[in-house]
Amino acid sequence: MTADELRKKYIRFFEQHGHVQISGASLIPENDPTVLFTTAGMHPLVPYILGQEHPAGNRLVDYQKCIRTGDIDDVGDFSHLTFFEMLGNWSLGDYFKEEAIRTSYEFLTSREWLGIDPEKLSVTVFEGDEEVPPDHESARVWEELGIPRERIHYLPRSDNWWGPAGATGPCGPDTEMFIDTGVAGTAESRPGVSDGKYMEVWNDVFMQYNKKPDGSYEELERTCVDTGMGIERTIAILQGKNSVYETEVFTPIIAKIEELTERRYGDDEDEDRSIRIIADHARTATFILGDERSVKPSNVQQGYILRRLIRRAVRHGRKLGLPGAFLQHLADVVIEIYREAHPILTEKLQFIRSELYAEEQRFLATLQKGEHEFSKKLPELLEKPDGMIPGEVAFRLYDTYGFPVEITEELGREHGLKVDREGFDKAYEEHQQRSKMDHSVAFKGGLADHSELTTRLHSATHLLHQALRDVLGEHVEQKGSNINPERLRFDFTHPDKLESEELKRVEEIVNEQIRRDLPVSVETMTLGEARDAGAIALFGDRYDEVVKVYSMGDYSREVCGGPHVSRTGEIGTFKIKKEQSSSQGVRRIRAVVE
Ligand code: ALA
Repeated sequence: MTADELRKKYIRFFEQHGHVQISGASLIPENDPTVLFTTAGMHPLVPYILGQEHPAGNRLVDYQKCIRTGDIDDVGDFSHLTFFEMLGNWSLGDYFKEEAIRTSYEFLTSREWLGIDPEKLSVTVFEGDEEVPPDHESARVWEELGIPRERIHYLPRSDNWWGPAGATGPCGPDTEMFIDTGVAGTAESRPGVSDGKYMEVWNDVFMQYNKKPDGSYEELERTCVDTGMGIERTIAILQGKNSVYETEVFTPIIAKIEELTERRYGDDEDEDRSIRIIADHARTATFILGDERSVKPSNVQQGYILRRLIRRAVRHGRKLGLPGAFLQHLADVVIEIYREAHPILTEKLQFIRSELYAEEQRFLATLQKGEHEFSKKLPELLEKPDGMIPGEVAFRLYDTYGFPVEITEELGREHGLKVDREGFDKAYEEHQQRSKMDHSVAFKGGLADHSELTTRLHSATHLLHQALRDVLGEHVEQKGSNINPERLRFDFTHPDKLESEELKRVEEIVNEQIRRDLPVSVETMTLGEARDAGAIALFGDRYDEVVKVYSMGDYSREVCGGPHVSRTGEIGTFKIKKEQSSSQGVRRIRAVVE
């Protein structure tokens, strides 16, 4: 079964079980500064798991682009990926454990769906601890379905607890489903031990708690189900492949690398590893650049991860004898693979190609300098008895030559040296402080933070958006929005710096609409209807999808998940603090309400 087929089957199956398909969200989470990327299908749904009504109902299904960079250093082995797609279905206060498990079982084993032999299925459930009792209910349902006790494993919180996706938010015990791949295991083999014998295909999480910023857990008002099935891993298992890299979402990328490098995958272990790293990173970089909220390579946040991915791929390309820029050719292949499932990549093809090329050029130029500096330092470093590259040295290479610390680590490893990561992080932090990037601000708040101030800023953002369109023109489109309790930040398309007159006018209009104390109302309708009604809709191409539209009197109408104030008068006084360039053709405004 191919990835395209699996995606379709999953959606169809859950639609038949009363679920509504919703669009996957952007890879860049909106209004959650606690994480850089969307890490799971549930991430964009946090407000709904916490109790808000979802406009599409309480049974949802989708496929979601995800990035997890926590184990970036493991990429290169046969299974770790920085980007993956997750299939998921949700019950928002509707069904719970019994139905979730029975439905999962049906999809996995029924001939009509995945047709997996039930004999190959093992499951795990939460064994309980001081705070939460053992999950006997899940175990019972599995047993009733015919899974014998010896294949139902009770495991601790480290295995069978999921969430929150960021620093705070919904979480709970889970039950995970594993397939016996048939390889000979060892005495230690069991679900949860990653030795290749048992592969996890699916995770049903029973959302019962909300983790608060102070670390405590409160019970959710209504329990929810959140499930996740990784597409790449599941098709590898269904296709009987040993690795995700042998499936059709990777083989065309690897074939292109083979063609460019004139090497063969499978000939040399070390080169194979580089090929996998390039394939993974090219795919992830293509998705970040081709996201609804485009990010460009930079030295901060998502841009920094993107830069690292591109640069690491380039370095491994050089190891394989690829001298020049090559990632755009791999991007073409990635875009083609996802033509149907992620058409936005095709829309952004030119942007993806040109950004990859530009970053590769920048890096190739600095790489030569950095490597030269590193080799100048090397004799001195090799004399150090602890075999450590001081954090300061690694940071200077990063700061002065744009040398990512991971590349210093790789170069170091080639000479038996290690980077003092703590020292590097410290130097990095100090640098951030100096450049007034106040992380303490960025890490307050988050999706779960619906504090009053955040809500007021959110409503102010809608007025700002409309006011910008009034003053500058209809070409103004939102490119990004980030809110924390201190300020709002709004990125939008506009070619030139704003004149101070224009800024003043925008500010005046927003305050005028606040003074009018307009009522804020919300309606649900399809995206197509919302567009017809003149609402500003940001993205998504599924016109039949049901969305929420917030109106502020007769002034602003925008598709959005909320929450908002109930009258604009509650917003307070709106003040623009700064206007600057965000990237080519995109301006950024920071503003506060007082
Ligand atoms: N949120 C769960 C996961 O990512 C389903 O595994």
